[in-house]
Amino acid sequence: MLRHHQCLWWLLLLLGVIMGMIPYLEGVVINNKNQVIKTKTYMTPLFTLKPGSVVERFYYNTNFPKGRIAIKSFDVEVVDEAANPISLFQTYLHHWGILRYYQHKDTKDPNTNTPFTQLHKPNFIIASNNGVCQKHALPQFFGTGADSRKTSSFLPNPYGIEVGNEKEVPLGYEEKWVLNIHVIDTRGVEDRIGCIECKRYLYNVTKDGLGVTLEDDYIGGLRCCYDQTQCKVKEGYEGEERNLYVRYTIKWVDWDDNLVIPLKVYIFDVTDTWKLLIDSTGAHEGHNCLVEYNVGSCSSINKRGDQCNATKMVKLFSPTSGYIVYGMAHLHVGGLGSMLYGEDGRHLCSSSPIYGNGSEIGNEDGYVVGMSTCYPKPGSVKINNKEMLTLISKYDPTQNHTGVMGLFHIMVAQKLPNSLIHMETLKEFADDKTSM
Ligand SMILES: *[C@@H]1O[C@H](CO)[C@@H](O)[C@H](O)[C@H]1NC(C)=O
Ligand SMILES: *[C@@H]1O[C@H](CO)[C@@H](O)[C@H](O)[C@H]1NC(C)=O
Ligand SMILES: *[C@@H]1O[C@H](CO)[C@@H](O)[C@H](O)[C@H]1NC(C)=O
Ligand SMILES: *[C@@H]1O[C@H](CO)[C@@H](O)[C@H](O)[C@H]1NC(C)=O
Repeated sequence: MLRHHQCLWWLLLLLGVIMGMIPYLEGVVINNKNQVIKTKTYMTPLFTLKPGSVVERFYYNTNFPKGRIAIKSFDVEVVDEAANPISLFQTYLHHWGILRYYQHKDTKDPNTNTPFTQLHKPNFIIASNNGVCQKHALPQFFGTGADSRKTSSFLPNPYGIEVGNEKEVPLGYEEKWVLNIHVIDTRGVEDRIGCIECKRYLYNVTKDGLGVTLEDDYIGGLRCCYDQTQCKVKEGYEGEERNLYVRYTIKWVDWDDNLVIPLKVYIFDVTDTWKLLIDSTGAHEGHNCLVEYNVGSCSSINKRGDQCNATKMVKLFSPTSGYIVYGMAHLHVGGLGSMLYGEDGRHLCSSSPIYGNGSEIGNEDGYVVGMSTCYPKPGSVKINNKEMLTLISKYDPTQNHTGVMGLFHIMVAQKLPNSLIHMETLKEFADDKTSM
């Protein structure tokens, strides 16, 4: 009797194991068929730089994988005509960003000098990331600058950013992508750091790129170093014009509802002076991201109150609930680090600059050549909707810097993988990269 009972027990257990294995086996088969990470590398059109010159371009309708996909990574590199990477000492990549827009089918592509902030309905709709800044401010999915080379942008399995879903594109429109690049040629300039920080006196400008007169107290920043401006070069310096390109590499997997968990993309800005606005539709957040700020060298007096912006802090409502899967800050030269905390003070993610200390490409002395990233263990870092987050951005208080940034990117999953088995199976495929 007892023996019979035991036998049945074992049978049930065995059945359970087999049943449990079915989704596992299916997962493997499906993955073998579809879950291949694809890679494609594209080049922008060439642009020409001479010593001290600035190029800002908006490459509309830029090459991008077609169809419904999950983006896994996006990386850029500035290269010359022989495809050799260019040193930051010569060409500083101030920033780049890849963003999505919908273009009406009867509309022509804008030219490469049109900032995306000038795209308007009904011809164009910016299909931005998930937030949180005001319209047209920081709408990119991926973007950094000189720090790109040593910053990982890879999103671990089974996560990805879903794009190319036709159901989301308004009728009569097409989904397209624009790559914004901003580079500064610093060969032979009088003050390399001054040029890359867009100090006004080095550019000798009175108006910004849109023709608006600069305020007297605007000492530097992006409004001084727009396309075709010129930073001061050493007297008598002769340098040739040269043609460069931006090469960008995208990794992705084909979309699959069962195998990919979509990520939401958020960018927080430490300069965001948002306000709670209340109108007939209720309360909403009026964001005001300034993108840039200046760090004034602190004296021992103002260091305490930190009016010199060396340590800057903002509190922001979490725009969503979910699990942080990836985090990364963007800081300029002088940056020490950036931290994101939850309402109860728990640490969510920190990202620190990696400074170059050599002469070779990717390790340029004194430049921020990378940012450390966060890849929390799946499910370990949860944020709650409307939780008050704190973002801190730190710069060296002993130096003056103009036009610095304090951005923090997070990518958030709203669910976790079904089971650990599922997770393990998918993980193996991270190494199974194939090229196209
Ligand atoms: C600055 O620009 C003004 C004209 O806008 C010009 O007269 C002046 O010579 C320039 N200064 C330098 C140092 O290039
Ligand atoms: C600090 O940054 C704010 C903008 O966020 C700016 O208005 C202010 O002038 C900056 N302070 C200094 C000392 O540069
Ligand atoms: C540069 O930094 C790395 C890592 O911090 C260190 O190992 C190396 O010795 C440094 N090189 C020089 C030339 O200082
Ligand atoms: C920073 O700028 C202030 C004036 O704005 C100047 O007095 C100070 O000497 C500068 N500090 C450094 C370290 O350059």
